[in-house]
Amino acid sequence: MLSRRSPRVAVGLAVAVTLAIPAPAHAYASAPPYKPGASGLGDPYFAKAGNGGYDVKHYDLTLDFTPATHRLKAVARITARATQDLSRFDLDYSGPKIDGVWVNGERAEHRRDGQELIITPHRGLPEGEKFTVKVEYAGKPTPITTKALGTCGWVNTSDGAVALGEPTGARTWYPVNDHPADKATYTFHITTPTGVTALANGERDKLNLVKNGKTTVTWRMRKPMASYLAMVAIGNYKVKESESGGRWNLTAYDPRVADGAKGLHKTTAQAVAWESKVFGPYPFGSIGGIVDDLDVEYALETQSRPVYDQAADKLTIVHEQAHQWFGDIVTPKSWKDIWLNEGFATYAEWLWAEQHGGPSAEKTFRAAMPGKKDAKRFWQRKVGDPGRDHMFDYNLVYIRGAMTLHALRKEIGDKTFFKLLPAWTAKYRGGNASTADLIALAEKMSGKELDDLFDAWLYTSGKP
Ligand code: ARG
Ligand code: ZN
Repeated sequence: MLSRRSPRVAVGLAVAVTLAIPAPAHAYASAPPYKPGASGLGDPYFAKAGNGGYDVKHYDLTLDFTPATHRLKAVARITARATQDLSRFDLDYSGPKIDGVWVNGERAEHRRDGQELIITPHRGLPEGEKFTVKVEYAGKPTPITTKALGTCGWVNTSDGAVALGEPTGARTWYPVNDHPADKATYTFHITTPTGVTALANGERDKLNLVKNGKTTVTWRMRKPMASYLAMVAIGNYKVKESESGGRWNLTAYDPRVADGAKGLHKTTAQAVAWESKVFGPYPFGSIGGIVDDLDVEYALETQSRPVYDQAADKLTIVHEQAHQWFGDIVTPKSWKDIWLNEGFATYAEWLWAEQHGGPSAEKTFRAAMPGKKDAKRFWQRKVGDPGRDHMFDYNLVYIRGAMTLHALRKEIGDKTFFKLLPAWTAKYRGGNASTADLIALAEKMSGKELDDLFDAWLYTSGKP
């Protein structure tokens, strides 16, 4: 990549010399072909989500949080690679006040415009080059609440906070390339008053740092993770740990919701063990779950360690754990494909019931068919493009998504269908995939033309 860079530097210098103008170092590096990175990735539902011009490899987040005041003091260190010659670039950020931004160790200019944090490094970043961004910020993060999608982001609780990103809440607590298409690994260093528990995705380092009445714990997510799946949970928790199927199972619950956490630890292990047989090897280094009193009214499949609001019943655990394969290790390319998450996770519930003494998936499928009175409403939108404000509509995305998979199973037969599930998670492991990718794999494995089936189930409003 150096070879791309050198001639441009040389040209820039030549111009400066012939004009006899002592150009400041940044003059040539920000001139064409160095251009600003795009302020969004053009997601059909969230145009400003994510940014163009770079690819994040790793987020290192140092978070010092005080539950009594809900104040966060943080340093985000981001390692990325430029995918174009960049004169400047954006991160998504709507968190508290920024105290400084550095690129490659040097102070960088920055300004904020809506959810965009616009950063101009002191010299341009050549395509292909790795660079680091450091952002220091402090204050009280607040979540995003909309009528259609409810609350996401940094959710304060009476004794701490829990961060839940889906779909666009990550930017409320760290500067981020906030689109599922840019997955990265994460390290979390969380400092709290000693005695408070701090949890996050992945695995915890053995040694804590204890200093001046504060404890710092480090968590690492070593597999690529979409930003909406990044999670921290700080507060008073009862933590349970044990080995399960060769991995660490770490679950935790707020003692005030103890009743809702009964069975969490064991059911988590059971669900993961069963799903590993049906969906392919479990993708992450540890398993677990957290139950807290949140009032967001949903559970979220945060990578390797889902979060449940108030209670975690068996089928919800099966659902959130199924997302570890469908959504987490294989992530949609665009939010439009959200049924790839929710349809599969809901179908996992149907399959669990079928294989654990409950109704067959066929029976559940039939029972899901609406009666005459509800039919018009039930079939009215498109599963494969529900619209932003309907992306979590239960009947539309979850139930009709699961029905789509059941229809596929009937069309290609059990044998092929149950080979398709692990083949899908193996093929796109660690990356992103679209509905078109699923159709292509299903057609290849079954030897059947499936366009009509998917058209009818995903891209038509009305009963297939
Ligand atoms: N993915 C979650 C689930 O497992 C739902 C998230 C809903 N998010 C929201 N902001 N409403 O069903
Ligand atoms: Zn779900």
